[in-house]
Amino acid sequence: MEYEKIVDLAKRRGIFWQGSGIYRPVAGFYDYGHIGAMVKRRWENLWRRFFLGLDDNFYEIQASVIMPEDVFKASGHLECFLDPVVKCGKCGNVERADHILEDLLKESFEGLSSKELTELIRKHNIRCEKCKGHLEEVEERNLMFPVAIGTGKDKRQAYLTGETAQGAYVNFRQMFDAMRRKLPMGLAIIGKAFRHEISPRQALIRMREFTQAELQVFFDPDSIGKHPRFGEVEDYKLFLHPAAGKMEHVACKDAVKRLHLPEFYVYHLAKVQQFYLEELSVPEKSFRLKELSAEEKAFYNKYHWDIQLDLESVGGWKEVGGVHYRADHDLKGHGKVSGVSMSVNVHGKNVLPHVLEISMGVDRNVYALLELSYRQEKARDLLAFPRVVAPFDAGVFPLVNKDGIEEKAREVYEMLRREGFAAFFDSSGSIGRRYRRIDEIGVPAGITIDYDTLKHGDVTLRDRDTMEQARVKISDLPAVLKRFLNGGSLSELGN
Ligand code: GLY
Repeated sequence: MEYEKIVDLAKRRGIFWQGSGIYRPVAGFYDYGHIGAMVKRRWENLWRRFFLGLDDNFYEIQASVIMPEDVFKASGHLECFLDPVVKCGKCGNVERADHILEDLLKESFEGLSSKELTELIRKHNIRCEKCKGHLEEVEERNLMFPVAIGTGKDKRQAYLTGETAQGAYVNFRQMFDAMRRKLPMGLAIIGKAFRHEISPRQALIRMREFTQAELQVFFDPDSIGKHPRFGEVEDYKLFLHPAAGKMEHVACKDAVKRLHLPEFYVYHLAKVQQFYLEELSVPEKSFRLKELSAEEKAFYNKYHWDIQLDLESVGGWKEVGGVHYRADHDLKGHGKVSGVSMSVNVHGKNVLPHVLEISMGVDRNVYALLELSYRQEKARDLLAFPRVVAPFDAGVFPLVNKDGIEEKAREVYEMLRREGFAAFFDSSGSIGRRYRRIDEIGVPAGITIDYDTLKHGDVTLRDRDTMEQARVKISDLPAVLKRFLNGGSLSELGN
């Protein structure tokens, strides 16, 4: 699917668009309309349910997005969170050096030094894409957004956080003491992160302000070779693309033996893959876990596998998250700079916990859902969102607005809302047009109230994907709808 088509669809259907659009918008900032906001919230809730459910010692917390400078000295972001940029000597346009090369030569140049990138730019005689001017030497620029706390002489330097992860690390000690003083302990944050991207592009894919869903698992490094529930996934096949190799399907137990990855890490790779393939119904061919090379890895990672989805509109495989073994990088740094010990005592042993991080970009995932769910059929366009993340569960429609049918439809609508369903009511236009409208925003069920409803107390339930219909008693509707939303088919559920 073409990129322009997705952006246009998103705007027309109230999903997302550039922020501050009534002014001259700034690249890299996007706002969500009501449909987009609902899909995003439901994706986040699914993420919460799935990842917080992995262990009863995993918790969600919230942390400030403005943090003092010392946090980022400790984390290494002030020194190491850099992008290579190149400026045009004639018009002053600034671009990411690796992206210019990537666009032209169709391969990844992430992780190359400034010197190597400058040499490649010279070798391929690349000029400014705006004015064809001469490009200067590549230089590295920091991605952090500085902010000042206070005014005048009392000003204190701070930054908007570049990842939610730091909020979990600075709160580790308090949470450990407040909870069960037990490892592993997981701290999840769904929140905003900010990066001074030089050339934000591809809408929700590369933004300056974005939402992350991140889980930091703190564990005893001596137990990295084991996971108590590894037996459940040992034969489960991972879709792995090692840094030096090609795509292969590898059973978890073989990833441990052959690829020398620790059990604790592989268990979480399996859970991430199951989240995508089983919870979000991503097609197998569109998912992979891609290992990053030593040059490509983030500065804080010992093992770094990207979660990637194949998205045609933005040039193929795209990172939508990652599974990172950050070892003691963060807690050691914060212990040193803050002077507060990050070691904890578990079973009489003093441990500086290591961190395994599952990190996902929520906006990128919403974009991916949109591309992967879009279908163009002969008679209609539809967004076949997985039922669990659709913006609404059901649309409720009176067949006509007379003879007590609209009132009956409102009763059904109110009943569904009281039962906890996300329903909406639409009484305008032909019934066919109303079905088209819900197809276009990806609502899985349509419920129509007609003359027979008044006689027999039943309604028509329509499946967005198959367009099949079944009659269901109003008294059974909440239970049937629940089963349908959990994956049931109409042939099993109605008449
Ligand atoms: N916390 C990892 C990342 O921001 O990519």
